[in-house]
Amino acid sequence: MEQDIMAVVLAAGKGTRMKSNKSKLVHKIYGKELVKRVVETAKKSNIEEVIAVVGHKREQVQLVLGDTVKYAYQDEMLGTGHAVLQAEKFLKNKNGKIVILNGDVPIIRPETIKKLIKKSIDNKEYATLLTAIYNNPNGYGRIIRDIGGNIKEIIEEKDATEEQKKIKEINSGIYCFDIQELLKALKKLKPNNSQGELYLTDVIKIMNDEGLKTGAVIVEDNTEILGVNDRMQLELLTKILKMRINQYHMENGVTIEDIDNTYIYDDVQIGVDTVIHPNTTIKNDVVIGEDCEIGPNAYIREGCRLSNKVKIGSFVEIKKAIIGEGAKVPHLSYMGDCEIGAKTNIGCGTITCNYDGFNKSKTIIGEHSFIGSNTNLVAPVTLGKNSFIAAGSTITNDVPDDSLAIARQRQINKDGWNKK
Ligand code: UD1
Ligand code: MG
Repeated sequence: MEQDIMAVVLAAGKGTRMKSNKSKLVHKIYGKELVKRVVETAKKSNIEEVIAVVGHKREQVQLVLGDTVKYAYQDEMLGTGHAVLQAEKFLKNKNGKIVILNGDVPIIRPETIKKLIKKSIDNKEYATLLTAIYNNPNGYGRIIRDIGGNIKEIIEEKDATEEQKKIKEINSGIYCFDIQELLKALKKLKPNNSQGELYLTDVIKIMNDEGLKTGAVIVEDNTEILGVNDRMQLELLTKILKMRINQYHMENGVTIEDIDNTYIYDDVQIGVDTVIHPNTTIKNDVVIGEDCEIGPNAYIREGCRLSNKVKIGSFVEIKKAIIGEGAKVPHLSYMGDCEIGAKTNIGCGTITCNYDGFNKSKTIIGEHSFIGSNTNLVAPVTLGKNSFIAAGSTITNDVPDDSLAIARQRQINKDGWNKK
């Protein structure tokens, strides 16, 4: 039988410790909102239908997620079990698995979620928990296992005995459940705990008491389940993600001179033997070829496509730039909305004037051209191949192939003027 695989993202929380006018969930890591990262990760894990439980500052969360998810509403924070129950109307006619994710746990890997779902299906478990081993488990729910290693229940820190507090296996708050058995168990929850809430975690004991099989996957990389509660944690997770992405590119043959000071956003492709010098930022979806040299202090913005052997030097910003093989933008330039042909050299200080206050326009430069230093290219403008622009020019008209363009005042020397 075809199984539904769904996800519920808990996104109703307040996030008081952020000290922000904004919902915690719309704060960004590498340009992408926390909650959006979680939803995208769910979709990358082959989960098609995602339900977000929203509450506090819901309009901000909904603005970010749009129609990529369905919404359930939780008006009062009565606990994680209560939150999931708000999604009941989307779940009651479904059969299969439901993955519970937290909107503020943003760097979980899709591979981990897939592993959780697979174990749940393969082992026929009604609840599969994602757990972790923490040296300092303070604050987390503890996993209680019997002597055979079977999971019995989860005890929250605030309800735990001193003995239970010594347990190092913690609940990440991420689970995969059988949809129908979860709904049945949620209805049996009681708020008889120290916080007077309906705990989602109590579902485990309820299922075990019914004789329904439960299990766990222990996460390999503990950083995946870290949450964001304040701005220090936001910075920490940004750093972890930065390391993860930089490492990925290095493993794929890219040289990064300074792993701490290179900022590569999501879904960037970089060819082998490209060297990235320090203080370089590369935004989402950029594609860079092989054997390129980027930086130091370069800013490669969205929409850039660099062929092989391209050089982008220091203090260069490029945006929506399509750059041909072997072309160079070595220093102090802004090249936006442009095409630069193969082997063309862009002199120091060249600027594309791509914005007139209303519209963005394109600059097209043919191959084997030479743009002299400190040139302004007023777009829209097209420079032919093998063209040559004199330094200091402000180019407002197209330049034919093989031509020299000079667009500046002629120099006048006034002999002896300074002696008078
Ligand atoms: C929860 C787990 C705990 C686990 C920890 C991992 C419970 C009872 N405990 O504890 O075992 O170790 O997560 O981080 O589930 N939320 C709502 N509505 C509510 C309550 C919470 O949407 O009524 C959301 C929060 O915004 C948050 C998530 O659910 O995104 C978890 O809630 P939180 O209060 O942080 O639970 P913990 O006490 O940390
Ligand atoms: Mg929490």
